[in-house]
Amino acid sequence: MMEILVTSKKIIANDICLFELASLESDTLPPFSAGAHIDVKMPNGITRQYSLCNHPHESHRYQIAVLKDPASRGGSLAMHQQINEGDHLQISEPRNHFPLVHDAKRSLLFAGGIGITPILCMAERLAHTGADFELHYCTRSPEKTAFIERIQASEFADHVHFHFDDGNGSQKLETAKILASPEPDTHVYVCGPGGFMEHVLETAQAQHWSAEQLHREYFSAGPISSVDDDSFDIKISSTGQVINIPSDKTVIEVLEAFDIEIPFSCESGVCGTCLTRVIEGIPDHKDVFLTEEEQAKNDQFTPCCSRAKSAQLVLDI
Ligand code: FES
Repeated sequence: MMEILVTSKKIIANDICLFELASLESDTLPPFSAGAHIDVKMPNGITRQYSLCNHPHESHRYQIAVLKDPASRGGSLAMHQQINEGDHLQISEPRNHFPLVHDAKRSLLFAGGIGITPILCMAERLAHTGADFELHYCTRSPEKTAFIERIQASEFADHVHFHFDDGNGSQKLETAKILASPEPDTHVYVCGPGGFMEHVLETAQAQHWSAEQLHREYFSAGPISSVDDDSFDIKISSTGQVINIPSDKTVIEVLEAFDIEIPFSCESGVCGTCLTRVIEGIPDHKDVFLTEEEQAKNDQFTPCCSRAKSAQLVLDI
């Protein structure tokens, strides 16, 4: 973690705040690539991930946009209410789980609501390199559309199609039409609320786009069902210790009580920080971080929320 300065905080759309962050010690921050995010530690101790949305060539600042979520568990609300210009914050160096495929011939970008943040950074990068791309940006209304002016004034404005829920029929997102023909060397990127992402990804799959062409980043998980949760055992491979996980506790919570610490952040299967290798047993994956193909391998899982289908999981810790 490093300490940085909040140099600016601005409301840029209904319930969306843009924060600019700069180094306390030098003119430059660690570099990042399009699609990267940082972990931000809140004053209340919890950590949340936010995608960087400025041009990845900029080194003097990071920009993050935060939507005030009424269901916030202390992340977005704390950012809106407690963090102000002039404050110091603890952040991680940028990491990227959602990178662009740089040799793609064409890129199709889909953003829903605040999911625009990594997508905007990608658009900046693609425009900078003169790449062929199209951005479809779906929101409820212009008032709820972050960065609308920045996009309209940008050099890539004519690559962007806005789709407003309250707009007329002619501007609605026609996903099946846009994704009608899967071209080799074309890649699809999607970020937004769960329902929006499922719609785009399922439409692409139905039109035979391959898994390698589809890239996604969730910014929050949907509710994780615990109705079928059962107890199971975790075996620590390095020591042979076997620990029972009751149905109402997560693996991380129980292991912490045994002084076995697995790094974690979002606690909801979104960020991948807690990813742990599974040597034996079948995980019950509840995360949105791993792809379906990665989950099917059953050789890693996210102990912050995922559980076990087998009676025991042997973990590589
Ligand atoms: Fe984020 Fe587990 S802590 S996926």
